Amino acid sequence: MTTPQLYDAAERWSLDELRAHQLARLQETVAHAYAHVPHYRNALDVSGVRPEDIRSLDDVRLLPFTGKAELRDNYPFGMFAVPRPQVVRVHASSGTTGSPTVVGYTRDDIDTWAGLVARSLFAAGVRPGDIVQVAYGYGLFTGGLGAHYGAERLGCTVVPMSGGQTARQVQLLRDFGARAIMVTPSYFLSILDEMTAQGIDPAALPLSTGVFGAEPWTDAMRAEIEQRAGIDAVDIYGLSEVMGPGVAQECVETKDGPTIWEDHFLPEIIDPVSGEPVPDGEEGELVFTSLTKQAMPVLRYRTRDLTRLLPGTARPSFRRMAKITGRSDDLMIVRGVNVFPTQIEELALAHEGLSPYFQCVLTRPGRMDELTVNVEAAEGFSASEWPAVETALAAQIKDRIGTTATVTVLPPGGIERSVGKARRIVDQRPR
Ligand code: DLL
Repeated sequence: MTTPQLYDAAERWSLDELRAHQLARLQETVAHAYAHVPHYRNALDVSGVRPEDIRSLDDVRLLPFTGKAELRDNYPFGMFAVPRPQVVRVHASSGTTGSPTVVGYTRDDIDTWAGLVARSLFAAGVRPGDIVQVAYGYGLFTGGLGAHYGAERLGCTVVPMSGGQTARQVQLLRDFGARAIMVTPSYFLSILDEMTAQGIDPAALPLSTGVFGAEPWTDAMRAEIEQRAGIDAVDIYGLSEVMGPGVAQECVETKDGPTIWEDHFLPEIIDPVSGEPVPDGEEGELVFTSLTKQAMPVLRYRTRDLTRLLPGTARPSFRRMAKITGRSDDLMIVRGVNVFPTQIEELALAHEGLSPYFQCVLTRPGRMDELTVNVEAAEGFSASEWPAVETALAAQIKDRIGTTATVTVLPPGGIERSVGKARRIVDQRPR
């Protein structure tokens, strides 16, 4: 590992300095939430916890959890901890059921966020003066504007493309010569396909870094993207309820999972069923408590993302998270066997003839659930060889994951494309 360059003084903090800041900030956050958000005051009162009871970082465990339900119950602005006029921006996630989840930011929150995305970009290898094309969607989604403010803060020239207009994305990558792109990994694949269709060799462009996130992706996908595009592909993690992109960022020197910016977000891993903490290194649900947010502090927010906490490497005092296996919402239980789309992705990508476009279709023709994996053939992969690959991949899924699946290879273009987060699961089971 080459010695990493750092963007921000906090990245140099010793573990003792980091823990001291975290405790002071945790105490402030709990006091702020208790004083200004009726939901938190009630929830703490019900748990019999007072802000003064937080004397150590472990005392975070005394606090009640927060989930999407609490945010929805307080729709739209009930979780804000500052008078509404101090909220300079809101974002919202669509949410498939009920009201969207709304989040708010003060001017200082926007400033903190821009600083953390700038720090993240720097860790990804982006430098002041670079051209950065932002292909995350702009609007209520936090991806576009979050990336935009961070890249500007770092001192980059930002190309605010947003998602979509794939031919235009390619044209501007070529004409403006961006050194970095920020985009979902699945949409980047569509951009690469468009380059191929236009006869452009991606590896010949100035593009050298992809900052990919907003959806799960595997190391197998990283290898595929890096090889095809001739770039470094690194992972950026975040969620709107906790801030947006830039909660954690993978460092380009190590590519070993996102480093959590623990000076602003206190992570825990819990058993998703019992809610009990699990030790570092063991898999469970990631939970965050914000340490510096003003407009919308979150106490023990349950992300539903499944991962592990790992020791720091490129930033020794800051723990990393393992690449996300999936969200508990994405867990498919097929005849009692737990399956995540990322497991299918890894196995499918090991086949030369298959592309990274796939979908898991769940049906229930009789009493039992059935899983069909639809996966696209790579360009030029002869249809006469598809049946053999279908059989081989189905056997590997049975062998490695333990579930029976039908694999169907589709011609190139057979799987729907998304310009943002890919839809990996199509659930057609009767409700
Ligand atoms: O997706 C924020 C974001 C934008 C992150 C751009 C990175 C880049 P939400 O729409 O609220 O916010 O969705 C958050 O997306 O709980 C994860 O399930 C998933 N997710 C985000 N980043 C990653 C990642 C944005 N790097 C939800 N790997 C999270 C895996 C991710 N899943």
